[in-house]
Parts: sequence; structure tokens; C-alpha cells
Amino acid sequence: MAVDVLLGLQWGDEGKGKIVDFLAPQYDAVARFQGGPNAGHTLYINGKKHVLHTIPSGVFHDKPINIIGNGVVIDPITFQAEANKLTEAGADLNKKLFIAKKAHLILPTHKILDAASEASKGSAKIGSTLKGIGPTYMDKTGRNGLRVGDILSSNFLQKYNALKEKHESLLKLYDYSYDITAAEKEWMQSISFLRSMNLIDCEYFIQEMISNGKSILAEGAQGSMLDIDFGTYPFVTSSNTITAAACTGLGIAPKHIAEVIGITKAYCTRVGSGPFPTELNDETGELLRKEGNEFGATTGRPRRCGWIDIPALNYVNQLNGVSQLIITKADVLNIFDEIKICTSYKVGNQISKQIPFDICDSTIESQYESMNGWKSTGNANSLKSLPVALQQFVQHIEQLTNVKVTYISVGPEREQLIACN
Ligand code: GDP
Ligand code: IMO
Ligand code: MG
Repeated sequence: MAVDVLLGLQWGDEGKGKIVDFLAPQYDAVARFQGGPNAGHTLYINGKKHVLHTIPSGVFHDKPINIIGNGVVIDPITFQAEANKLTEAGADLNKKLFIAKKAHLILPTHKILDAASEASKGSAKIGSTLKGIGPTYMDKTGRNGLRVGDILSSNFLQKYNALKEKHESLLKLYDYSYDITAAEKEWMQSISFLRSMNLIDCEYFIQEMISNGKSILAEGAQGSMLDIDFGTYPFVTSSNTITAAACTGLGIAPKHIAEVIGITKAYCTRVGSGPFPTELNDETGELLRKEGNEFGATTGRPRRCGWIDIPALNYVNQLNGVSQLIITKADVLNIFDEIKICTSYKVGNQISKQIPFDICDSTIESQYESMNGWKSTGNANSLKSLPVALQQFVQHIEQLTNVKVTYISVGPEREQLIACN
């Protein structure tokens, strides 16, 4: 059986968590393949809000098991807090959750390094979530990292201390004051908790599932425009966030990938620094933030808001091989008489439909088409019962992207989703 990949097509927070939660019962496993607690995936189930950072969004169902793949970076403290909340909510994690031994660990000093690096950048800061993501992936690629499987080894403490010492020498260069005494104690306690979880050889585990005809939904974090290679570098995260990362982050061959489900808001948001061609620094942007409740699920920071960006969407559709689109938060646009869609950029005197290499240093004037607003998404339960203007918007997005829209989301709850067939 196949692996389907679900990922965000913008700068994160597209509503991936909600959609994974909805689709999860169709699969035998839901698997996170990159990122870490920088992610905040929100699920509303019967009016109750749940935010997941490290644990996959299939965890509220009986059927799928949930896997944290080798491509993920794990902060044991955040992980334990999240696991405890889920256990209180009735989830049996011993039965349902499996963690790759090859996933890397975020140390308390990784978080300090993240903060020190950001502070040293001044106004050029990335706007990191300060969860230690960048420094942990740096240690992974620098071949210094500590992995989950290391916590089972008798010389774990030695390995931990060696890495901590490296970090301490680096922190001297930053001249950054810190105290990790309390965090270190908590971290060690959380390591004991992590030891009690199901720790797996992810690549063998997943291969066996595939050989036995099981289906897997790979859950992306962040968004393709935050990809370390293809995003708006350097204002990106430190992992690959595109479809290819599902292979390296779970240990599966590309031939097993079937559907690629891309999630986009009906508009666009970004949190943190970096270019955002369709950003609205005006009343309309404010309205979007207010109506969409656009505040970060992990950091609470206000999200920057703007219109949907087709050049960016087509760029990432190409990188990801998106085979179906899901449009979220269509209800947020109910307040507008006119909806705008950016179809090209003006860079200098040139009109272009491509993302320029020097996007961070270019002045981009977004070129827009206008459409009528739909004013209400009401209680519609099929595409045909939605207002004609929204049906036209969906058709137009399909024409502009050449990808089929399979669902439209019209509210945060699990059921507020309309199939487009
Ligand atoms: P993720 O990181 O991609 O999972 O997205 P987040 O959870 O960070 O942000 C999406 C926010 O939008 C959350 O607060 C969701 O509850 C909410 N949401 C998701 N889909 C819809 C929708 O169709 N309409 C509205 N109004 N809210 C939505
Ligand atoms: P989900 O999975 C939105 C952004 C940060 C910052 C940049 C680098 O919820 O969509 P990092 O902490 O990774 O070093 O920060 O990336 N960022 C996100 N923005 N949603 C996310 O995750 C994000 N994860 C990281 O705001 O600009
Ligand atoms: Mg989020």
C-alpha cells in the first residue's frame, strides 16, 4: 500500500492539523517526518481545542497508530507535557505512539543557542520560535547530535555532557548569559519518560507496514515556503519541508508515495521575519488577522496576513508534486465584498510568475485579479450548496494551479469541511 503526504504550501499554519485529524481514520498510520516543537497543529474536536507540537495529529482516533519519524527533532520536555495532556484526554500512547530511535534530541543548550543566535542578529533575526530547532539540525548535519536511541545506551550521560560542553564553548563566543540548572533537571526527568515509550527502528517498522499492505499518511510541519533549500532563505526553518523530506524523514523509498495533498489557506499568512509579497500592512490585513484569529499556535505571535499568492503556490506545487489541493479558512473571507488573488509579480520593470532568487532583496509589486466575495459559507454541506462566488473562486484556483481542489474548509471544527466531488 501507499504513503500519502500532506503538507503546507505556504509559510506554515495552513490548517494541516485539522485536515490530518479529519483524514486519519482512512489510514493505518499517521507519521510526522520533519520539524519539531516549532510546529503548532490545532485540532477542534467537539468544541475543545488541542494543540499538537511533536505528536502526530492522528492521535485522537482509535484506528491509526502514530509515528514520530527520524527526520523530527524532539524536545523531551515539550514531548512529555504534550503526552501527559493527551493521556488525560484519554489517548493510550503506549498502544498508539511509536518514536524513531534515529530522531534527534533538542538539548536545553540548543534552546539557549537559538536565543543567543537570534539576539546576535539584531533586526536581521529570523524570528525563530526559539525551540532550539536550528541548532539541533546544525548538530545533526555537523555529526555531533544526540539521538533518541542514545538514551538506551550506558554512556548516554557521557555523550550528553560532551555535547553540552561543545555548546558551552560556543555560548562563550556569543557572550550570552544563561542558567540551565532547572531546565537540565527537568530535561533529565523527561528523558526517563521518553525511555518508557515505544522506541523503534522507523525505516524497518514502516517498511513492514508497507509490505503488509498498510496505508500511511505522512504529516508535514511548517510549509514549503519555509523549506531550507527552496524557501525564502535565510528566513526559513532548518529542515526540508517538501514531499522529498517524507522519504528521508521516515526511511521510505520515493516509489511508495502516491497522493500529495497540499494545504493552502484561501488567503496567506506568515509569522516571523522574511519576504511576503502579498502582505497587507493595512486595515484589510488587520481584518484578516482578526477574523482568522491569526495568532501563532506555538508562540502566540500575531501572524502577518495577505492575499493568496499563485506564483508561490505554483512554485511549491511543482516542488512537491501536489496531486490535490485543500483550501482552508474560506469562511474567514466571508467579510469581504471583493477577494484578491495575486497572479504575478512585478520585479523592477519585469512581470514574472516565478519566485526570484533574490526575493529577500527585491521589491516585489504583486499583480492582482479581483473576484466577488461570497459573503457566507453558512451551513453548506456540498460544493453545489456553497455560494456561486465561492464555487467560482475554487474553479479559478484550479485553473491557475492546474491542480484539483478536493475539500474546502469552512471552520475550525473537524466536521466543517466540504468535499468537492
Ligand atoms: P497548522 O500548523 O497548519 O496545523 O495550522 P495552525 O493550527 O497553526 O493554524 C490554523 C488555525 O486555523 C487553527 O487555529 C485552526 O483551528 C484554524 N482553522 C483551520 N481550518 C479552519 C477553517 O477552515 N476556518 C477557520 N475559521 N479556522 C480554521
Ligand atoms: P506549523 O507546523 C508557522 C517559522 C518561524 C520563523 C521560522 C524559523 O505550525 O505550520 P524555527 O523555530 O523553525 O527556527 O523558525 O519559521 N516557523 C513557523 N511558522 N508555522 C510553523 O509550523 C512554523 N515553524 C517555524 O516563525 O519565521
Ligand atoms: Mg501551526
